[in-house]
Amino acid sequence: MALLEIRDLSVRFDTPDGTVNAVNGVSLTLDRGETLGIVGESGSGKSQLAFAVMGLLAKNGRAAGSVRFEGKEILNAPASVINPIRANKIAMVFQDPMTSLNPYMRVCDQMAEVLVHHRGMSKAEAVAESVRMLDAVKIPDARARVTLYPHEFSGGMRQRVMIAMSLLCRPELLIADEPTTALDVTVQAQIMTLLGELRRDFGMATILITHDLGVVAGFCESVLVLYGGQVMEKSPTDPLFATPSHPYTRGLLAAIPRVDQEGEALSAIPGSPPNMTNPPPGCPFAPRCGYAGEDCLDHLDPLTEFAPGRFRACNRSVEELA
Ligand SMILES: Nc1ncnc2c1ncn2[C@@H]1O[C@H](COP(=O)(O)OP(=O)(O)OP(=O)(O)O)[C@@H](O)[C@H]1O
Ligand SMILES: [Mg+2]
Repeated sequence: MALLEIRDLSVRFDTPDGTVNAVNGVSLTLDRGETLGIVGESGSGKSQLAFAVMGLLAKNGRAAGSVRFEGKEILNAPASVINPIRANKIAMVFQDPMTSLNPYMRVCDQMAEVLVHHRGMSKAEAVAESVRMLDAVKIPDARARVTLYPHEFSGGMRQRVMIAMSLLCRPELLIADEPTTALDVTVQAQIMTLLGELRRDFGMATILITHDLGVVAGFCESVLVLYGGQVMEKSPTDPLFATPSHPYTRGLLAAIPRVDQEGEALSAIPGSPPNMTNPPPGCPFAPRCGYAGEDCLDHLDPLTEFAPGRFRACNRSVEELA
């Protein structure tokens, strides 16, 4: 049985200007221990996809489709079903650690609270386990620092504290939403290395959400490329980098700085992402796509397997893009 199975997931938001179609018919399967990258520009629906899985959509949002975790339907499930899973099985880390840390509580108290509540530990056991977890995320002198408040840590260290918090209940699945975007490049690399090590040590499946295809390269076994809330391409990572099959993926790749091409200009994809309120029927990328024909404006071929394990949604054949 797959750990996570998402079928035909859609997320809509009701706004005074109309319905925002944030996620449109996304399907994916994640096995135990697997790493998946979800990549796309700002506004492509990455975070709302994750929030729908976690049952954390804003009040004006509604999700349709199916999300099964260990075979159990959790989309729009009652609190009695989703809360234990959210507490013990799926953890999420965000770009801004302060969204999950309480600024008014010492780190030891907030970590211990989780362990006492969800794992039935005594306060003393819980503090000892919290120190072990801060050690695991390589916070120097964890025993002394566990008594600090979140604001007493640097940005990178605070991110480590949040990751430690998220791992306290030994989740089966970690969803990391732009976990390094707010950090400088050196700290970004350290946090990604740490996440990779933790993933191996804890054996958890991981979904890494990022707008930067470069970040998924060393981390994810497979990649799902989202645009306008739709899956454009889904592929194991190595072939996606070697032979990207979709014009949008190619655009994202051309925007990654590469050490072997230092000095060469990066090509940002011209144009801007689609308006998600009443989007046109065709391919959402068509207005920005160098390969698009008239047909792309009113029709998009469904996601199709074109090589083993590789899927794409594009009206042009792979050969036409060569
Ligand atoms: N509460 C809301 N009401 C209306 N529209 C919303 C709401 N929340 C998100 N959206 C819209 O849903 C779309 C997808 O947003 P989402 O947050 O998933 O983007 P993202 O891919 O995570 O982008 P980023 O890289 O900037 O984090 C966007 O058009 C966004 O404006
Ligand atoms: Mg986001």
